[in-house]
Amino acid sequence: MNLTIARLGHLGEAIAQGPDGPVYAGQMLPGEAVEGTLSGDRLRDVRIVTPSPDRVRPPCVHARTCGGCLMQHASDSFVAGWKQEIVRSALAGRGIEAPFRALHTSPPQSRRRATLAARRTKGGALLGFHARGSDVLVAVPNCQLLHPDLIATFPGLEALVKVGGSRSGELALTVTRSLGGPDVSVTGGKPLDGALRMELARVAGAHGVARLTWDGEVVALSTAPMQRMGRALVSPPPGTFLQATEEGERALLRAVSDALGPVRRIVDLFAGVGTFALPLAERAEVLAVESDPAMMAALDKAARSAEGLKRVTVETRDLFRRPLEPDEFKGVDGVVIDPPRAGAEAQTEALARARVPVIAAVSCNPVTFARDAKTLITAGYSLDWVQVVDQFRWSAHVELAARFSLAHIPRT
Ligand SMILES: C[S@@+](CC[C@H](N)C(=O)[O-])C[C@H]1O[C@@H](n2cnc3c(N)ncnc32)[C@H](O)[C@@H]1O
Repeated sequence: MNLTIARLGHLGEAIAQGPDGPVYAGQMLPGEAVEGTLSGDRLRDVRIVTPSPDRVRPPCVHARTCGGCLMQHASDSFVAGWKQEIVRSALAGRGIEAPFRALHTSPPQSRRRATLAARRTKGGALLGFHARGSDVLVAVPNCQLLHPDLIATFPGLEALVKVGGSRSGELALTVTRSLGGPDVSVTGGKPLDGALRMELARVAGAHGVARLTWDGEVVALSTAPMQRMGRALVSPPPGTFLQATEEGERALLRAVSDALGPVRRIVDLFAGVGTFALPLAERAEVLAVESDPAMMAALDKAARSAEGLKRVTVETRDLFRRPLEPDEFKGVDGVVIDPPRAGAEAQTEALARARVPVIAAVSCNPVTFARDAKTLITAGYSLDWVQVVDQFRWSAHVELAARFSLAHIPRT
């Protein structure tokens, strides 16, 4: 059967109009004429008859087998336009239009944290990512996504798997680049006992691992795995959230700073370990709120040790169950809000009533962002701009920053 690809779904799958409805055709691009065998709603054994001008040779040698990247067959400009369109259509679904600032894409080889899968094998260890739609593991020594410092940890990670992996199960290894060296957190390995603890610590030491955490327990700490956030140095708890690339983090911080403008008192909601709170504290007082007590403690310690910051206060609080109420924003002239994928429905409703003049929003989910944006707009805010900040190049993941402001409505 011959078909022409009409569009991409949100997960990057190509969709054509078949005789009985949509047909899914894998990694094709809009406008491409393809030929294949129809099986249910899937086109199998697909052959490209007319390629799209946006089709490129995948930059990574693992692209055919590895499931880590979905969009290596598309040009950067195509992916940028596609991601921007995902955000635009999520907003349009709520009846919202907004100007877009120029998109920022993190460069190749810039991911500073990643979770790899691994298994112990007869001869050693297999470490990598899963093949597309499968539990088969693919080794990725030439991965174009990860920072070279993460690739350099592979021998150490494999050595840990040889010692602490069982032949039956798969391990998940989260590795983060830090100023002190790799910060490694492993789950799914053998249960810890005295001998394993010692052996893991020995292997971690031999491979320059700054901190090794095994099923939540720190088993080796040679150097604190510090991260720089503005003037402050933070030691994040094991496995903690950090923005995926340093370039993306800088672009988000720039967007948030531009959105806030000259502010004196800020509330940073869903603050994590202080990605925004700590740099912003160089020019404004900050209240940072977040549900994870270990993250709050790390942020607090970093703020106290840094020089020249304005007052930073932290509050551990579940913002889904107990959002900050309007009267808690008294005297605050800017808010940063960066919730998880679920968005911040309850907090946004309270925030809309607080009437803080400027809100800098960061989101990893255009659908919940659009829902929460609608709440603010209905309350009188304007959505001044949106910027897609793509830290997950070659994937379907979309991240954005945005500015909301109250134009002429007086605060109550
Ligand atoms: C997308 S991360 C952003 C963190 C931080 N702004 C950053 O850029 O590093 C979302 C944060 O929300 C926190 N979080 C998740 N659920 C929460 C809740 N119900 N209440 C408060 N914080 C929550 C997570 O622990 C995480 O740190």
